[in-house]
Amino acid sequence: MRVLIAGSSGFIGSALAPALRHGGHEVLRLVRRAPVGTDERGWDPPAGRIDSGALDGVHAVINLCGRPLAPARWSAAHKQLIRDSRLEPTEVLAAAVAERGVPLLINASGAGFYGDTGETVVDESSGQGTGFLAELCRDWEAMTHPASDAGARVVRLRTGPVLAREGGLLGVLRVAFKAVLGARFGDGRQYLPWIHLDDLVAAIRFALEDDQLTGPVNLCAPNPARNAEFTRELGRALGRPTPWVAPAFVLRGLLGQQAEEMLVFGQRAKPAALLRREFPFRYPELPDALAAACA
Ligand SMILES: NC(=O)c1ccc[n+]([C@@H]2O[C@H](COP(=O)([O-])OP(=O)(O)OC[C@H]3O[C@@H](n4cnc5c(N)ncnc54)[C@H](OP(=O)(O)O)[C@@H]3O)[C@@H](O)[C@H]2O)c1
Repeated sequence: MRVLIAGSSGFIGSALAPALRHGGHEVLRLVRRAPVGTDERGWDPPAGRIDSGALDGVHAVINLCGRPLAPARWSAAHKQLIRDSRLEPTEVLAAAVAERGVPLLINASGAGFYGDTGETVVDESSGQGTGFLAELCRDWEAMTHPASDAGARVVRLRTGPVLAREGGLLGVLRVAFKAVLGARFGDGRQYLPWIHLDDLVAAIRFALEDDQLTGPVNLCAPNPARNAEFTRELGRALGRPTPWVAPAFVLRGLLGQQAEEMLVFGQRAKPAALLRREFPFRYPELPDALAAACA
């Protein structure tokens, strides 16, 4: 398939593009600067512009755009930047997919869609939660509707925190844990819907190739871990003790709403859509995923 990826320079795109090429797909990249090389096409999301011809012969568009949620504290201005960097590119791409009759749009979203689920297990049929991230994901996903209305298959990736050797969640935590600053957040009972990067990349490739997979898809392992368990297992994988507790009120005082939603909220999410399609997880269990990511 000829696949056009937006946001390809990021953490997920940098792993996905070579994996798709390795799997026999032709990968083109949308870049927000002047294109260099034969595999790049230009675009300007705020201006609503895509190079003419960028979608010629394209079978699937994968949109991974979005500025990082952390580390800046969520001021009103930063929240607007977070939203604009996701909603504008999605709007432009969904319109282009609809107009050009591209059969498939795979669009990033997040497990934050579910808000804070506590002990309740949620799958793709569950409703939206509350909070900035939940509203962001709702609006982000809604931007894809012109593509589905035009008949494209649209897959909305509700991704959880990604575990990898470099970058992602462990990029920050590894440094802290190695300095024996590993701490549980709040009461540690909140669920983390983690996924290993290898499974994430394989699942996006699976979504590309499986015509039956459509709509929201939780990209998380079948066994989400409580924050306390995750902290203990990461300390074990890194050979470091994890004696500390970062109380929720301290996190809130330091980082405000950002800490509440990113560290204290939890999603007990189940990857029901992937399990229904019998996606073969390589790392369904946390200790194996952490051992691979920390090796
Ligand atoms: N990593 C995770 O744990 C995780 C979890 C849940 C959801 N997600 C979502 O999955 C997507 C990809 O994640 P990632 O970790 O690969 O993110 P990332 O490393 O931050 O990369 C995102 C890419 O988005 C593009 N981008 C940045 N600012 C932009 C802006 N203002 N307008 C348009 N594009 C912009 C950039 O690509 P170019 O410079 O090539 O345009 C950037 O490399 C994001 O939407 C993220 O929110 C990630």
